[in-house]
Amino acid sequence: MTITFIGHGYVGLVTASVFADLGNTVWVIGHTKEKIEKLKRGIIPIYEPGLEEIVKKNVRAKRIFFTLDYRDAIPESSAVFIAVGTPPKENGEADLSTIFEVAKKLVPYLNGYTVIATKSTVPVGTSQRIKEIINQYKAQKADFDVASVPEFLREGQAIYDTQSPDRVVIGTDSKKAEDLLVELHEPIDGKYVLTNIETAEMIKYAANAFLATKISFANSIASLSELTGADGLKVLEAVGLDKRIGSSFLSPGAGFGGSCLPKDIKALLSIAKTSGYDFGLLKEVDKVNNQAMKGIVSKSKRLLEGSLENKTIAVLGLSFKPDTDDMRDAPSIVVINSLIRAGAMIKAYDPVAMENAGKILKGITFSKDCYQAVEDADLLIILTEWNEFRQLPLLEIKKLMRKLNIVDGRNIYDPKKVREMGFSYLGVGR
Ligand code: UDX
Repeated sequence: MTITFIGHGYVGLVTASVFADLGNTVWVIGHTKEKIEKLKRGIIPIYEPGLEEIVKKNVRAKRIFFTLDYRDAIPESSAVFIAVGTPPKENGEADLSTIFEVAKKLVPYLNGYTVIATKSTVPVGTSQRIKEIINQYKAQKADFDVASVPEFLREGQAIYDTQSPDRVVIGTDSKKAEDLLVELHEPIDGKYVLTNIETAEMIKYAANAFLATKISFANSIASLSELTGADGLKVLEAVGLDKRIGSSFLSPGAGFGGSCLPKDIKALLSIAKTSGYDFGLLKEVDKVNNQAMKGIVSKSKRLLEGSLENKTIAVLGLSFKPDTDDMRDAPSIVVINSLIRAGAMIKAYDPVAMENAGKILKGITFSKDCYQAVEDADLLIILTEWNEFRQLPLLEIKKLMRKLNIVDGRNIYDPKKVREMGFSYLGVGR
């Protein structure tokens, strides 16, 4: 099948390359000449394990094509997936202007029957608005249906998640569109949820809101465990063993970040407000997440006897999670800015996110490796659980630090062992 993706971010580029790899002819439309020229040579604008290989392979096989011009791609496509960004506005509402803009732009090139599907996370009702826009601008003969096919991939595991998703959600009010989308997704395993457009749009928000709720619940239990002397990690491990609950997304730490969870809970809160529903539970989820980030700062103060003034702090890990260079809504931004405001000097290291971090975090020093970061530091803070930090030779690190303090924001070290080495150690919930 010939299909088009508009947008080449995590969702657009990963999904496009997986469909190309399955033998489809896939067009990817972008709007920046420089990026499209690079993509044509297999150079990708984001860090995602395995993505460059799969893009290069399919560029060589002439199954994936990149263009700036809608007329190259839309006329011959049976399905067009809109995968552009929906960043939050000041009030938390998702900004849909790019979605509507690309919908308008594609209309003149519709040729024969085309399914126009949204991959981006959009509030309930957006696909219907896309339908209205297309109807408003289309030529008499254009034949189309709209659909919502939300994407659930996680950064860092995006290729795997796209090839082997837990579920494929296809929301459309047209049987013809549903059949076409089912045929396209056929080689992809996973449970199929076939439903109407509004339900598909809501599923994505509900899933991300629930994941965020699990994490904030884990952070609340962690805080309470610290106050009562319980071992929060054991508590959560045991809780997760109940099959009805499940063990994933119960790790307490420095809070959740990224391009989806923080933005989507804000957007869902905004949808709830407009619909006249007071989603108090979700407001708390957001509040607890902020407390989780601030908790790292209070623990730092505790270890440094109440003051961060002129203290040198080594921060390991800046991206919102390992295996990505994505800094969007990363807890490191809130934590580091609070530490700086309290008078600390920050030396940071991240295996891949330092370039992106440099655009956001000002007034900090970036180090070439962990060793340079910890040199003369009064405190070491772990904010992202990159694998290379797990086996860090702490005895070597000990020789380089001025004071032996660790705040482990991702619980990667064994408190007993670290304390035996002479460090003062605070994790989250233990
Ligand atoms: C998320 C959803 O998982 C995915 O289905 C959706 O399509 C996009 O949003 P992603 O943002 O890539 O994916 O990251 P995810 O793995 O969900 O982690 C989000 C944040 O939660 C990270 O900052 C991570 O550190 C944090 N987290 C995750 C925790 O703090 N504790 C946990 O137990 C799990």
